[in-house]
Amino acid sequence: MKFFVDTADLNEIQEASEMGVLDGVTTNPSLMKIAAERAGQSLNFHEHIARICDMVPGDVSAEVTAVDFDGIMEQGRALAAIRDNVVVKVPLILDGIKAINALAQEGIRSNCTLCFSPTQALLAAKAGATYISPFLGRVDDISTDGMNLLQEIIQIYENYGYTTEVLAASIRHPMHVTQSALMGAHVATMPLGVIKKLLKHPLTDIGLAKFLGDWDAFKQNQAG
Ligand code: E4P
Repeated sequence: MKFFVDTADLNEIQEASEMGVLDGVTTNPSLMKIAAERAGQSLNFHEHIARICDMVPGDVSAEVTAVDFDGIMEQGRALAAIRDNVVVKVPLILDGIKAINALAQEGIRSNCTLCFSPTQALLAAKAGATYISPFLGRVDDISTDGMNLLQEIIQIYENYGYTTEVLAASIRHPMHVTQSALMGAHVATMPLGVIKKLLKHPLTDIGLAKFLGDWDAFKQNQAG
């Protein structure tokens, strides 16, 4: 399973990268806004995406903000020209689906975002999306089951052999990651905080404290 970090904050990307578990990055306009606020300065979008691409060898999703076909194509081509590892993130709307298909014909890879139903995912795969991003947490937020959505998409893609990779997005906690991995999602994108939570287990902390305490006692006995 590939791990992407869901942030545009360079410090967070650096920290995730140092863990050695990072396969890529997903950004969106909201995450760009947060990154600029944290940096305390305005950020040039294309320059910022280039910096991220230079930090991470894997795929970096950069989102278009146009919602019409021509605008999506223009922005998508410009984003794809930044670096080879840019994946153009396109919303799951009619012109977005058309653009995903046209981008694919130009050899430009896409991440179809804001997916909330299996039929949307089916259209994205048929159009030639490189990734489909079902938003698990946001589905849960409206008292529906995000994991069920993920399972249905994976099953449908398997039924027909679509090569579009399923990117579990809007992940909020480690159980989303465990269940996505059990279902066979190709990628999980998550905030740095969730990646860190994957580490945590109280028995690890208790066990380590006991080992270190016993080691101190052992060393004192040796000295005596
Ligand atoms: C990823 O591609 C999405 O932009 C992101 O996972 C959305 O997450 P959120 O629902 O926590 O904003």
